[in-house]
Amino acid sequence: MKRNILITGGAGFIGSHVVRLFVQKYPDYHIYNLDSLTYAGNLENLDDIKDYNNYEFLKTDITDANALDQAFQKYKFDKVIHLAAESHVDRSITDPLAFARTNIMGTLNLLEAAKKLWDDDFEDKLFYHISTDEVYGTLGDNGLFKETTPYDPNSPYSASKASSDHFVRAYGETYGLPIVISNCSNNYGPNHFPEKLIPLFISNIINNKSLPVYGDGNYTRDWLFVEDHAAAIDLVFHKGGTDETYNIGGFNEWKNIDLVKLLCRLMDEKLGRALGSSEKLITYVKDRPGHDLRYAIDASKINKELGWKPTVTFEQGLSKTIDWYLTNEEWLKNVTSGDYQEYYKKQYK
Ligand code: NAD
Ligand code: TYD
Repeated sequence: MKRNILITGGAGFIGSHVVRLFVQKYPDYHIYNLDSLTYAGNLENLDDIKDYNNYEFLKTDITDANALDQAFQKYKFDKVIHLAAESHVDRSITDPLAFARTNIMGTLNLLEAAKKLWDDDFEDKLFYHISTDEVYGTLGDNGLFKETTPYDPNSPYSASKASSDHFVRAYGETYGLPIVISNCSNNYGPNHFPEKLIPLFISNIINNKSLPVYGDGNYTRDWLFVEDHAAAIDLVFHKGGTDETYNIGGFNEWKNIDLVKLLCRLMDEKLGRALGSSEKLITYVKDRPGHDLRYAIDASKINKELGWKPTVTFEQGLSKTIDWYLTNEEWLKNVTSGDYQEYYKKQYK
């Protein structure tokens, strides 16, 4: 029997990789990509699979409860993978309400629509919520986030994601909705909107613009190639236990400044520029308010229970990513025109 799978946020960075993987790998699934196409949503990300018979795009805003209800009733989704969100910490600092509307209320609207359609018949149903390691707050110099680490979010973004995680768990406990949650570390790869560190710096190096490092650059993130995250989502979706949480991470911690220097070296090589020329673009700028010092994931549960591990090293992943941006300059040009220029001016003054 054909299964109807709803993927929200499929026009965004991670969502587009998940949609592609599911459309190509599972011809027996009908994949509905529901997305409102905010500044971060881009159907160009899915040009290569848009004509597949088992793929359909629905332009819908998850803050619109009626529209969601109608979509659930019409298409009879069996399972949901929920990625749609406002995802950038800096934007959450300037507009926290937008994050509450989409990340909290939007998730609640989806939970309600699923509960209504499934009406206590939960056999072979699933609500899979994609979340972030940022809900755990910040680490000091030591330690790792485990699934049991208490939530302690610091930014409006992470607070809104934490809230949505709590609601998803509450629907599992209270109504018996079959749920699963995964919390992943920082992703990077093709189709990443150039407001986040890695694609922003790749774009700026290409254009010989300064590289704005926040504070002293000694903040640490744990980086994972986006296709490895999509593979983990595939595993959790098919093999994960109901009501379980899985932490997903790259076993790959980098201080921002070291990462930026590695990126500069790789970019100099790929662009045929003199070694050291990109590093000269590094500029230390005012720190992000409430900047979390360090994120690092203990991914041993998903590794032991589901057999997942990353498949590319950081240098391989970064190299693939840079190559993608260098061969897709048109994509980069399209997403950095218009509103992006305004955002950039405001954010970096
Ligand atoms: P993104 O910003 O690239 O994409 C988000 C997508 O959601 C866009 O296509 C956008 O149009 C859509 N969207 C936003 N608001 C919407 C609304 N109200 N209704 C319908 N669609 C809407 O984000 P991403 O980096 O791909 O992240 C996807 C998910 O993964 C998010 O839930 C995020 O919290 C989570 N996550 C991201 C990372 C990361 O490093 N990027 C890490 C861990 C978890
Ligand atoms: P980002 O890609 O925004 O992801 P997150 O804040 O969700 O981890 O930022 C990654 C790190 O890079 C974070 O410590 C903030 C820092 N950063 C800069 O130093 N300069 C920038 O222009 C940006 C966007 C981020």
